[in-house]
Amino acid sequence: MNILAIETSCDETSVAIISNSKVLSNIVSSQIEIHKQFGGVVPEIASRHHIKNIAYIYEQCLREAKMSMEDIDFIAVTEKPGLIGSLLVGIMFAKGLSYRYKKPLIYVNHVIGHIFSNSIENEIKNNSLHLVVSGGHTNMYIYKDKKVVKIGETLDDAIGEAYDKIARVLNLEYPGGPKIDKLANEYNEKNEELISFKIPNIDGFDFSFSGVKTKVINQINQMRMKNKNFSISQICYEVQKNMIDILDDKISKAVKSYNIKDVYISGGVSANKGLRKFLQKNKDINVYFPDIKYCTDNAAMIAFAAQNILEGVKYEV
Ligand code: KG4
Ligand code: ZN
Repeated sequence: MNILAIETSCDETSVAIISNSKVLSNIVSSQIEIHKQFGGVVPEIASRHHIKNIAYIYEQCLREAKMSMEDIDFIAVTEKPGLIGSLLVGIMFAKGLSYRYKKPLIYVNHVIGHIFSNSIENEIKNNSLHLVVSGGHTNMYIYKDKKVVKIGETLDDAIGEAYDKIARVLNLEYPGGPKIDKLANEYNEKNEELISFKIPNIDGFDFSFSGVKTKVINQINQMRMKNKNFSISQICYEVQKNMIDILDDKISKAVKSYNIKDVYISGGVSANKGLRKFLQKNKDINVYFPDIKYCTDNAAMIAFAAQNILEGVKYEV
């Protein structure tokens, strides 16, 4: 079975082809360099670049996979959530291909796509926990008997959004998550604590990151007003430690409540080195991450989600 998938929900234009669960091509054109100068994604500019790029990316993908549209069985496309103008570009392109080549279209939820990025290289076990940590989402799901059910989500900011906003105040370039991760990992001094955190007391399996974000930003502003010298790397280290503690706390609670052995992390923030290192030390559970190239937005994960949908997987979002 050959699936061509399209992903344009935010600032990556991506087209992939998978054949019998193997990635033949996964072209990702990132707009990071364009949005950097604005400190974040500008929706109008994002849609315009998708329009400009999508046909080239599509042709490049077919060439790399050594296929023509006649070889394709299904077309998959990200339906939602995302920037509406950006999503529309991918959906209209997919609809056009579906009509022209008479191929069935499968609509895929972007967050469910992230979950199935973990099926590209690993088998997803029954009764597993899934944590999607990205710029737009922090959601937790249980996968059981071919059903994906959401058990928790952020009540305010997504974790990646909090990383990016803190980074902006520290004058680190967009996207700030990878920069905070890098500086945090390089920090190995022992200084007096700059910011003290408490894990937010949020019911059930929901999350909150706006408190952490506001606390860090206020503290930085106060230190600046008082002309106090502080180490950016130390702030990054403390922020990163706190973010990991928040995620670890909820994972531990969910693992106990649902009797889970296998935990899958996905989404842009799953590329975080500190998080990977920390969670993989836990000997009570098996923790899986996608390959780094499948953490941030890509069409291969949309193709794998479509394949799972074709195999009978249902989801609630
Ligand atoms: O999944 P993604 O590409 O887009 C969304 O669906 O939102 O995630 C992008 C997010 C950004 O907020 C970015 O800062 C964050 O993932 N990110 C990271 C790292 N790499 C990307 N956050 C922390 N550490 C990283 N290494
Ligand atoms: Zn995403």
